[in-house]
Amino acid sequence: MTIVLDVAADGDQPALCLRPWLLADMPDLLAATADEYPNQGLGSHPDLSYLFQQRWSGPRDAVEAELWLSGQERGWEHGDWLTFAVTDVSQGKVVGHVGLWNRDGGQVGSGEQGEIGYWTAVASRGRGIAPAAVRAVTGWAFDHFGSDRLPRIMLVHDLDNPASCRVAAKSGYPFERLSPANPPVWFTDGHIHVAEAPTSRPYRVRR
Ligand SMILES: CC(C)(COP(=O)(O)OP(=O)(O)OC[C@H]1O[C@@H](n2cnc3c(N)ncnc32)[C@H](O)[C@@H]1OP(=O)(O)O)[C@@H](O)C(=O)NCCC(=O)NCCS
Repeated sequence: MTIVLDVAADGDQPALCLRPWLLADMPDLLAATADEYPNQGLGSHPDLSYLFQQRWSGPRDAVEAELWLSGQERGWEHGDWLTFAVTDVSQGKVVGHVGLWNRDGGQVGSGEQGEIGYWTAVASRGRGIAPAAVRAVTGWAFDHFGSDRLPRIMLVHDLDNPASCRVAAKSGYPFERLSPANPPVWFTDGHIHVAEAPTSRPYRVRR
């Protein structure tokens, strides 16, 4: 399944194209990871809890990038890890990422709750890219799977990540409840936001 989502420009937010990650994107991904985590690497961070506190993680070199990419490709094949490279059409480069998975494992669209995650490259932040990309993937997922197969999508962020809270609000994910820290699985308190699949469609997809 190759899904390509085009998002029109809107004010500061550039025209975007969301599609599965490609090998040609790996230099952009490595650059984004290096910008986000200039000191990334176990050598400089003997305290492993540092890794759990990262907002996202990415490959550090070409070998890790190839492994990472094969994980994204496998995710689409198995339907349990659906990730999109968010590209700025005018720059022709990757500026972000959105991923969708099943909260409790297994295939997305198996009747369970989904979960969404995202990042925007440091240099491209503040232009509404993440909300536009999250809205696009959410809309596509609800349309594609339907409310029976994908009733809800959760968005979870750390309490100390107000930028992500703003993305949730701007993407149609209202706040639902607090999520207390649960080490070693989750080290910080967070917010759970949830988008519900629209149920009042004027049609039903024939299966
Ligand atoms: C959270 C994140 C995805 C937001 O992406 P974005 O494309 O910049 O989204 P927006 O442009 O809508 O900005 C969201 C908020 O970031 C803040 N912001 C604005 N400009 C910013 C900048 N240049 N740099 C950092 N944050 C900025 C603002 O609070 C903004 O909210 P506002 O529009 O109401 O003022 C991005 O900061 C990021 O990738 N952070 C690290 C990874 C992460 O936290 N992912 C989410 C894990 S739950």
